[in-house]
Amino acid sequence: MKNKSLVSIDDYSKEDYIEILRVAAEFEKNPVQNILEGRVVATLFFEPSTRTRLSFESAVNRLGGRVIGFTDSSSSSVSKGESLKDTILTVSNYSDLIVMRHPLEGSARYASEVATVPVINAGDGANQHPTQCLLDLYSIQKTQGTLENLKISMVGDLKYGRTVHSLIMAMSYFNPTFIFIAPDELKMPEEYKLFLDKKGIKYEEHTELAENIKDSDILYMTRVQRERFADPLEYEKVKNVYILKNKMLDGTKDNLKILHPLPRVNEINTDVDTNHKAYYFPQALNGVFTRQAIMAKILGLK
Ligand code: CP
Repeated sequence: MKNKSLVSIDDYSKEDYIEILRVAAEFEKNPVQNILEGRVVATLFFEPSTRTRLSFESAVNRLGGRVIGFTDSSSSSVSKGESLKDTILTVSNYSDLIVMRHPLEGSARYASEVATVPVINAGDGANQHPTQCLLDLYSIQKTQGTLENLKISMVGDLKYGRTVHSLIMAMSYFNPTFIFIAPDELKMPEEYKLFLDKKGIKYEEHTELAENIKDSDILYMTRVQRERFADPLEYEKVKNVYILKNKMLDGTKDNLKILHPLPRVNEINTDVDTNHKAYYFPQALNGVFTRQAIMAKILGLK
């Protein structure tokens, strides 16, 4: 795994996931260490981010490393017409590791092929978000005590939501049952359902929210991804299709935890925030420990 880029969650094996979760738990106990002293991590964000960028930067800072980068490509020479290849080759000269978010699917794979340092995909279009996936696995294991045999309801934008695409691939090792709840316009893409069919993983598809979460262990809410719609009117039609309210959680399992990669728009009412089943803010905190574990693994640090 040393010096290997992380572009898609299937770049890692089940054993890799388990090892990262184990190391993340160690970082949670002791998040301030000096193991990145003298190392530079570049964060190149061609799309907006709060949690992914800042949790990576927090993770690096707490491990004694330095961060360079940009939060908006308009402040880089990309705005003068510089190619992604030239940008990545240049930043490879200045850093030990590149963390990149980009709107184009496949851009992270391309960057990993031209870079001379490892690249971590921090989200490429509607494709993959592997570090979010690993922090989701960490959050699921931490709250459920296991990753095995869980019922996971995924709600909202299952078409464009890259986090659910990564998560079904990773959870497929752990015999889950998936409940996909989405309007017809935002259903889980066929390629992911085919993937589950081939692996013999059970899933159901529904359009109603409240009646399909009662026996779930994890309720994974997602935002409708406005930025991926070509037609704003199509977004307007579905933007508020699901709004989780506290009352809807009556009768759900005691161990149910509500996850959301965030940011939230309207899909979880704020009256849910004080319910003990709400876990989305602790989930975001878990991103720091998980990303510390991922960087330590890729850089070969103990
Ligand atoms: N979960 C996530 O990717 O959040 P940000 O867009 O704020 O990074």
